[in-house]
Amino acid sequence: MKPNAFPHAIITGGSSGIGKAIALKLFLQGSSLTLIGRDLLKLAQTEAELEAHQVQPAQRLLTLSADVADQGAIATAIETAIQQLGAPDLLILCAGIAHPGHFQALPLDIFEKTMAINYFGSLYCLKAALPVMEQQQKGHIVLVSSGAGLVGLYGYTPYSPSKFALRGLAESLRGELRQTGIGLSIVYPPDTDTPQLVTENLTKPLATKRITATAKLWSAEAVADAVLRGIHHKTFTIAPGLEMGLLNRFHSLVAPLIHWYCDRLVTKTLNS
Ligand SMILES: NC(=O)c1ccc[n+]([C@@H]2O[C@H](COP(=O)([O-])OP(=O)(O)OC[C@H]3O[C@@H](n4cnc5c(N)ncnc54)[C@H](OP(=O)(O)O)[C@@H]3O)[C@@H](O)[C@H]2O)c1
Repeated sequence: MKPNAFPHAIITGGSSGIGKAIALKLFLQGSSLTLIGRDLLKLAQTEAELEAHQVQPAQRLLTLSADVADQGAIATAIETAIQQLGAPDLLILCAGIAHPGHFQALPLDIFEKTMAINYFGSLYCLKAALPVMEQQQKGHIVLVSSGAGLVGLYGYTPYSPSKFALRGLAESLRGELRQTGIGLSIVYPPDTDTPQLVTENLTKPLATKRITATAKLWSAEAVADAVLRGIHHKTFTIAPGLEMGLLNRFHSLVAPLIHWYCDRLVTKTLNS
């Protein structure tokens, strides 16, 4: 077996959806993993599923319950992961939530919680793990944004800004990390068949459903493959598929067209 490029990967949100699919693929490649989420049951289930796929006797699997939005708790979790499995060679910040709805109908705490988990949750993990990665002068970090981090979409007023913020962080941090030997990628996943999408659909306005209805639905496994390919090639922007690829390249240019298309659908929906 080839030496593993990532002996230790820390994955927040590794107990479900895209994070879990990435975890399984890395585990099958022989990586030791630290998976972080809040729900102990989901973590235990994931651990049991992954353990069945162990490929090397020395491989370790650590699951830690922590809320990424709680700076003290996540710093402790990252410290525990480093103490037990060493500095991460790969840090994948996938934990996130989405609660769509109409702006005026959503209470402020949804906006605050979404920003706290999606943006500050990633920032706190980065701050906690970066010093030891810098000492090693190697490793790769992955931030997980969304197509809604490239264009603001109707119904996503809490979510889009949190994913735009991650894009701003990645673009401004990229140059600094380049000097340290640490790689950075930002992922813009398309609509992916995961528990988050199911939860999202519960509160998604009808107009938002119509806007996103034509987008191809991806499996978490296919997105995980694209992410791992991007990491392998040290790609800064990982935009799986044609739609995300075009959106990533041309989002500012096509924004007026997207607004026109969405406005038409919204008007039609509201008048029907
Ligand atoms: N699915 C899509 O269509 C889609 C599209 C674009 C971008 N994304 C992004 O991709 C990432 C993964 O999404 P997914 O669809 O795979 O979601 P998912 O299946 O719901 O998984 C989310 C993961 O994040 C963890 N998590 C959520 N809040 C957390 C918190 N406060 N602290 C620690 N862990 C937390 C969850 O575990 P606990 O609940 O146990 O904490 C779970 O492991 C998210 O950042 C999402 O915004 C998803």
